[in-house]
Amino acid sequence: MNIIHTKDYNNMSRKAAQYLLDKIKHKPDMTLGLATGGTPVKFYDYLVRDHQQQDTSYKNITTFNLDEYIGLDPKDTNSYHYYMNKHLFQQIDIPQEQTFIPNGLADNLLEECRQYEQTIDHHGGMDLQILGLGGNGHIGFNEPGTSFNQETHIVELAESTRQANARFFQDLNKVPTQAITMGIASIMKSKEILLLVSGEQKKEALHLLINGEVSTEFPASILKKHPHVTIIADEKALADIHSSYYA
Ligand code: F6R
Repeated sequence: MNIIHTKDYNNMSRKAAQYLLDKIKHKPDMTLGLATGGTPVKFYDYLVRDHQQQDTSYKNITTFNLDEYIGLDPKDTNSYHYYMNKHLFQQIDIPQEQTFIPNGLADNLLEECRQYEQTIDHHGGMDLQILGLGGNGHIGFNEPGTSFNQETHIVELAESTRQANARFFQDLNKVPTQAITMGIASIMKSKEILLLVSGEQKKEALHLLINGEVSTEFPASILKKHPHVTIIADEKALADIHSSYYA
């Protein structure tokens, strides 16, 4: 795993955007895996700014989001559909039909998972998958204990995850209890992975990822087995990591 040290959240976001833009330049029709949550918000801001100023085009890019809550309408302001439209899709030139997000309102959720995975495979898997890191080590919504062999599936959200995400909802009771998520196996199929980590609240998780064992109890640990992972983290998140580990 290649670790890139940045000063703060803003620098992490800018560096990550530069990293992706460079990839897009080399492969303008890439298949890109996307994450939601607090971490990538500014990263998306930088992509939008670049699109407005440098005209980088997303016309030939296909995206797959990691996850979506079950039971939320795409128009619900807390759905990941809404988040992606607001922070990225509506502000760049990507055709809507090239953006995939699991449908958390599907009548047949198991079939939705199966089809989502099939669509990813049909596109040849991700060229680059963007990830955030959960405080408990989750990636996507793959909570501790999830098998590394799982593809897209339905999950029960850990209480700690619901509490962490309650900041986006009016109260904890409104946070859904289930989601559809790409599985660890879906994520590991990506040719390359870019993990973004920011803030003191992630320093323990990042320390465990870098220094701990590979274990389903800490899902992100599987990234050590992937041949091409880059972590862009800020100073606060890297507080417990010895500087010899990073550039
Ligand atoms: C989001 C996702 C999650 C988040 C993680 C960190 O699509 O899959 O794994 O990346 O929960 O969330 P933040 O960035 O809000 O700390």
